[in-house]
Amino acid sequence: MGGSAPRRDERPSAEPAGFVGRRAELLGGRQLLAGSRLVTLTGPGGVGKTRLALRLADRVHRTFPDGIRFVDLAGLDDPALVPLAAAAALGPPDRVGRPPLDALAERVGERRLLLVIDNCEHLLTACAELTAALLHGTPNARILATSRHRLGLTGEHLLELRPLPVPDPDGDLSDADRHPALALFADRAAAVVPGFRLTEANRAAVARLCRSLDGLPLAIELAAGRLRDVGLDRLADGHFGSLRATVDRSHRLCTEQERLTWARASVLAGGFDLETAEAVCADGVRLRSEEVLEAVAGLVDKSVLIREATAGGVRYRLLGTLRHYGLDRLRALPDEESATRGRHRDRTRHQAGTGERAREITTRRRADQDSRRAAPDFGLTPRESQVAELVAQGLANQQIAERLVIARRTAEGHVERILGKLGLSNRSQLAAWVTARR
Ligand SMILES: Nc1ncnc2c1ncn2[C@@H]1O[C@H](COP(=O)(O)OP(=O)(O)OP(=O)(O)O)[C@@H](O)[C@H]1O
Ligand SMILES: [Mg+2]
Repeated sequence: MGGSAPRRDERPSAEPAGFVGRRAELLGGRQLLAGSRLVTLTGPGGVGKTRLALRLADRVHRTFPDGIRFVDLAGLDDPALVPLAAAAALGPPDRVGRPPLDALAERVGERRLLLVIDNCEHLLTACAELTAALLHGTPNARILATSRHRLGLTGEHLLELRPLPVPDPDGDLSDADRHPALALFADRAAAVVPGFRLTEANRAAVARLCRSLDGLPLAIELAAGRLRDVGLDRLADGHFGSLRATVDRSHRLCTEQERLTWARASVLAGGFDLETAEAVCADGVRLRSEEVLEAVAGLVDKSVLIREATAGGVRYRLLGTLRHYGLDRLRALPDEESATRGRHRDRTRHQAGTGERAREITTRRRADQDSRRAAPDFGLTPRESQVAELVAQGLANQQIAERLVIARRTAEGHVERILGKLGLSNRSQLAAWVTARR
C-alpha cells in the first residue's frame, strides 16, 4: 500500500458568501456520517446540496484523520473519467496501468478519509460503481455524495434537502431575522444595494418574496440580485414561481450581451478568469471584448456569476443549474456551441503554446485546490503529457509526430502507453480526460 497520498485536506478554499441556517441538517448529516459509510445529500437543483456538503465536511474533518478529498464531477461528461477524477483527488499514484477502481481502493487502503463527491446526478452508474468499489474494497473510507437523485446502493443513507423554511408574511415577523431564507436574501441584497438590511418596514415583503420562491436558495439569490433594478415591492409582488421561471426572468432582465456571455461561458465548466471569458465569449461581431467584460460584471451583479478571489487572482463560476440553463440556450442557437467550443480550444492551445497554461495550472493548484484540476499527471512523463494535449486538440498520430519531430511509430507508442497508464480505451476518452482537467 502506498504512502504517497497527501495528508493535507483537499477541501476547496473558503466558502464564497455567508452561510445561513441548516442546523438540523448539519446535525443530521453528522449523525449519518458517524453511523454510515455512504451519505447522499439529495434535492433539487439550487437547494443547497453543495453548500451543505462543504459545510458538513468542514464540521466533521476532525473525525477523519487522513483528511477530506473533494471531487467535483460537474464538468465531466464521460463516465470512464469518474474513477480518474477520484484518483486525482487522492494525489499521485503509486503504480500505474491497473484498472482504475482496483487501484483506487488499494490506494485508499485503510485510510480514514472522507471523499466528497459533488454533482453525481449525470453520472449515476459510474458514481455507484466507484462508491461500491470503495465501500467493499476498503474498511474505513466514507463517502459524502451530492446528487439530485440517489445513487441507489444498499447501505446508502439519504439526507433529503428541502428548501429553506419561510415564515408566514402575515404572521408575527418580529423574530424574522432568525429565518434563514430572509437572512439569505438580506445578505445577498446588501451586496447589490449597500446598506440593505431587514427592517420592520420591509420584512413582510421579503417574506412574501421568499415564500413565492418556495424558499429555494438559488432563486432567493437571483431575486436579491435584481433588487436594485426591480425594487423590493415589485419583486415581492412578482409571483416569480418555480426556479425555472425565476431563471427565465433573470435571463429576460439581462442585456443581449449578458445573455450571450452567459450562454457562451457555460462551456467553461469549473470556472474561468476574465481573459478566458474574453477569449471564449467575444467573437468580434456579436460580442466585442469590452462588451464581455461589462457583461461579466453585470452577471455578477445579478448573481448569475459567482466571483471568487483566489490566491491566483479573481475567478468566475456559473452554478450548476445556471450553467445547464446557459448550455440549453447555447444549443438553441444555430452553430453557437461548436463555434464557442472552437474558441475555447484555440484559447487552450494558445495558452499551451505560450507556457501560460503551465503557469496557470500551478497558480490554480495553489489557488482553488480543486482536486481534479490540481491533479498530478498520473505518472505521465512530460513528453506523454504533451502528446495527450495534442490528442485532445484533435491531432492524428502523424500530425503529432510532425509537431514533435518524432517518428510516427514513436507517437503511436506514446498514445498506447498513455491509454494504458490512465486505464482508458480510446483517444476520445483521452481527449475528454484532458479537457476535463483544464
Ligand atoms: N445554507 C446556505 N447558506 C447560504 N447560501 C446558500 C445556502 N444554501 C445554498 N446557498 C446558495 O444557493 C446557491 C445554490 O446552492 P448550491 O449550489 O449548493 O445548490 P445545489 O443543490 O448544489 O445545486 P445543483 O443541484 O445545481 O448543484 C449557491 O449560490 C449557494 O451559495
Ligand atoms: Mg451542487
